Amino acid sequence: MHKQLEYDLANLPALLEKTRQTSETYLKEISRRAPATRYVPRKFLELSPQGLGAGRTLEAFLERYGDHMPASNGPRFWGLVTGGTTPAALIGDWLTSVYDLNLSHAANSAAPDIELEAITLLRELFGLPGDYSGTFVSGATMSNFAGIAIAREWIGQHYGKSVAVEGLHAIPPVKLISGEAHSSSYKALAMLGLGKGNLKTVPTVPGNREAVNVSELKKALEESNGAPCIVIANAGTVNSVDFDDIQSIVALKSEFNFWLHVDAAFGGFAACSPKFRHLLDGIEYADSITIDAHKWLNVPYDSAMLFTRHRDLQIAVFQNSGAYLGAIAEPVDFIHLAPENSRRLRALPAWFSLLAYGAEGYRDIVERNGEMAEKLGAKISTSAEFCLLAPVRMNVVCFTLNGSVDAERVKTFLQKLRDDGRVFMTPTTYKGTPGIRAAFSNWRTEEKDVEIAWQALMACL
Ligand SMILES: Cc1ncc(COP(=O)(O)O)c(C=O)c1O
Repeated sequence: MHKQLEYDLANLPALLEKTRQTSETYLKEISRRAPATRYVPRKFLELSPQGLGAGRTLEAFLERYGDHMPASNGPRFWGLVTGGTTPAALIGDWLTSVYDLNLSHAANSAAPDIELEAITLLRELFGLPGDYSGTFVSGATMSNFAGIAIAREWIGQHYGKSVAVEGLHAIPPVKLISGEAHSSSYKALAMLGLGKGNLKTVPTVPGNREAVNVSELKKALEESNGAPCIVIANAGTVNSVDFDDIQSIVALKSEFNFWLHVDAAFGGFAACSPKFRHLLDGIEYADSITIDAHKWLNVPYDSAMLFTRHRDLQIAVFQNSGAYLGAIAEPVDFIHLAPENSRRLRALPAWFSLLAYGAEGYRDIVERNGEMAEKLGAKISTSAEFCLLAPVRMNVVCFTLNGSVDAERVKTFLQKLRDDGRVFMTPTTYKGTPGIRAAFSNWRTEEKDVEIAWQALMACL
């Protein structure tokens, strides 16, 4: 054995303790650390012939990067939609690496059952019927990709073809329709050969809304002349957390032949609260659903789920045949259900967090985040310095600077805010106006964080 490996093996307990201490130090000061930092890249290191060993490597890492590790999983990172890591999720994630199980096969460990159990818990959390099969993937982009890939196979079936086998050439062009689709759906279409330019964008509800106008959607479906198509519904838009009227879209299924994919990457968590649950009415009739775990479930990256009612088509798309892998049998191995073949047991952090905090814990996170968004929104709407661009619907505050505003002014302000180090937000454009998004999805965020952030916003003007 190489001498550094031998040394590290003998010293594993001390190395783990050092790692624990490093983690504790970081987590203790997470509320005081800057949520984002500006890093100026340095010359990259060269590969050492003998290696440093794990202990010295940890020291080298801390020396080189330690101060540049921001608290993006802390209470005041409000950019994008970034959750954090609950204590239980951290335990699950650490153990995922300790066990380092490859989930592909049911025959050699409990890992597939842990994933299935986590999926069952998640179905309960989201109020989804038991006939949805669920699969963990790396993020909502991959979930949208997988959902639309299965939809593509469903379209093929209508023409008596398998796109998985014969390719897209075997079927006529596929019609895709959505309102305010997330950019990741466009990326999924690019990867699937369906073409992001082929997504027909239907107007949204008039007024300050981002939900699809269902009458316009109906018109677009009429234009498909009976050809099967794919509708992407959006449950939680990134700027204003608007929800398509899923129930009315589902009602169109009796007249038109379409696959309904719902991107509920973070909006799916509306199901955790009686206050927001109605926004998802009808979702239980979707053909496929995307929900992210590394957002509001507050498990570490990278983790999301795809739910679908069409597991036969899912297998047709993702089936991995190799003589050494054996025939497909129940329970179907995840190797035949997901884009990846080998993959980590990413269900474990979710399993830990779901068991640790239960339905009430997630209701608290979602409702508290919503309340904090409302508090910030109230300060903004009554201030002379800022104005809301959209109503605060759930957990995102979309606002801008008062006075003449352009993208450059927003950028300069946000850079100053980042360098101030108390809160982090990201830029956006909402209905043509450059603006700022503050997205609340971290389990730690409390009222005092809104106060700190407000002082930072005022100080950076
Ligand atoms: C609605 C929606 N869909 C998809 C995504 C893509 O998620 P991911 O970055 O996990 O791939 C996001 C990310 O913010 C989102 O908000």
